[in-house]
Amino acid sequence: MANVLVVGSGLAGLLAAIRATDAGHTVTLVTKAALPDSNTRYAQGGIAAAMFRDDSVESHMVDTLRAGAGLCDPAAVEVLCTEGPARVRDLIRFGVDFDRDESGVTRGLEAAHSRSRVLHAGGDATGAAIESALVATVRERAERARTRPPGTEGAGPRLLIREHTMLVDLVVDGGRAGGAILLGPDGELQSVASDSVILATGGAGSLYPHTTNPALATGDGVAAAWRAGAAVADLEFYQFHPTALAVPGTPLISEAVRGEGAVLRNRLGTRFMLDVHPGAELAPRDVVARSIAHEMARQDGTPILLDATGLGRDLLETRFPTITAACREAGLDWAAEPIPVAPAAHYWMGGVITDIWGRASLPGLYAVGETARTGAHGANRLASNSLLEAAVFADRAVRALGLSPVDGANTGTDADPARATTDYRHSAARTCAGRPTPHSALPFADREGIQRVMWRYAGVLRSGEGLAAAAAILAGWNRPATGLEVDPRLNMQIQAYEDANLFDLARITVAAALGREESRGAHYRSDFPASRPELAHTVAPSRELSETY
Ligand code: SIN
Repeated sequence: MANVLVVGSGLAGLLAAIRATDAGHTVTLVTKAALPDSNTRYAQGGIAAAMFRDDSVESHMVDTLRAGAGLCDPAAVEVLCTEGPARVRDLIRFGVDFDRDESGVTRGLEAAHSRSRVLHAGGDATGAAIESALVATVRERAERARTRPPGTEGAGPRLLIREHTMLVDLVVDGGRAGGAILLGPDGELQSVASDSVILATGGAGSLYPHTTNPALATGDGVAAAWRAGAAVADLEFYQFHPTALAVPGTPLISEAVRGEGAVLRNRLGTRFMLDVHPGAELAPRDVVARSIAHEMARQDGTPILLDATGLGRDLLETRFPTITAACREAGLDWAAEPIPVAPAAHYWMGGVITDIWGRASLPGLYAVGETARTGAHGANRLASNSLLEAAVFADRAVRALGLSPVDGANTGTDADPARATTDYRHSAARTCAGRPTPHSALPFADREGIQRVMWRYAGVLRSGEGLAAAAAILAGWNRPATGLEVDPRLNMQIQAYEDANLFDLARITVAAALGREESRGAHYRSDFPASRPELAHTVAPSRELSETY
């Protein structure tokens, strides 16, 4: 049995911790804030799975592949859609109470799905329902291990939960992931050894000022994996949700609202999506987000209106209680009048390259959930496939623990042992791609600056000129100082490490976006507006990206 470090406490991390404990492994679950604080908690629409008689795995696969715009790995899509229904049933066993009506579990329709197949809970509080059921299960497993009768302490699986503890870097020992450097609640850096590390740290919505993600989504796992030499890919594919409420905090307005019949209007009241795509408001997410951005540009940057007034107050309040509350908090009555919406950073299709067992190119390292680039989403994730992917691949990663090393199925490249580090002090002293030596004449980057550059140049609409400008601006800043380079006892705040991760990720994301001279899925270049079939399957390994630094 293995000693497993799981980092992150959204659906992917919680499920991995539960499964690994149940399989008899000794598990340490580390999370940056409190256990329930994760991106999963904010997921509204639901979880898509082919669970109904008029649906099929094949149909779900076709929709997923189509949305992915030629960049999906068909094997990963097949795994996702085939194993999805079983994982949804697991969630039900763990206590997730999906909404029902007299005919059984109710289901919603979302953009680019050819069938209604999205299960939801608490109306529009699906993520919160999943998170709370899994948090309860994890706590129960940890408590059971803690309170074992005297004399049996050494026997059986263990689950230790460490909250308010951040992943700083991976420890790479003998060419494999052998643990992590963690920043504990007391501000101390610690090295923790493990046989395997499962990264489930979510995405990096905080790269952008407008995001549906909580502020803690700073891509810590992707950044640490990249610095450790694991291959990453598809970073240029950042999905912008078309409809976040255009008020501070940018709360998500689920696509399910448009699935129920709400429409988008410009300031003249015109339904502009009718002229853009046969699916109108239910066109693929990237198409809707881009059209809204174009339409906003035509009306001096003012938000578009989402008109849900035709749905009726009763439906809005019972089916979408979370959104109703967010509107109310913003002083809006969406049953009575259209509400202002705009695109916001939502989901990262790119991440740590894994095979269909969650294995990264660095032996001993696994990535699941939004941290991973499994190939299931390609250039544009289909709505409500993210919770599904997290559940399916967390389960598979645990099944793969202790099996043979990477099979190379789709991991792109081997880890570069030359960039591996066994000791954080040693790594701090090195000038590797992730940690350029500070230049005294340059200012240090800060989060606001990074976000400004990313929104302006690497957002919904991009151009080569803009991306080159972004690269130049980022190159003119020092990486935010974490204290690691100077003295590990200094500057211990989590935010400093987060900002450094955002800086690393901004640089490699801009480099990837600059390198992809085409438009595909969520990546749109005004200087290359067409897709180029020959670029459909480029995998950008970390080493190549670091050379662009
Ligand atoms: C939504 O409810 O619109 C978001 C669902 C998703 O991102 O898959």
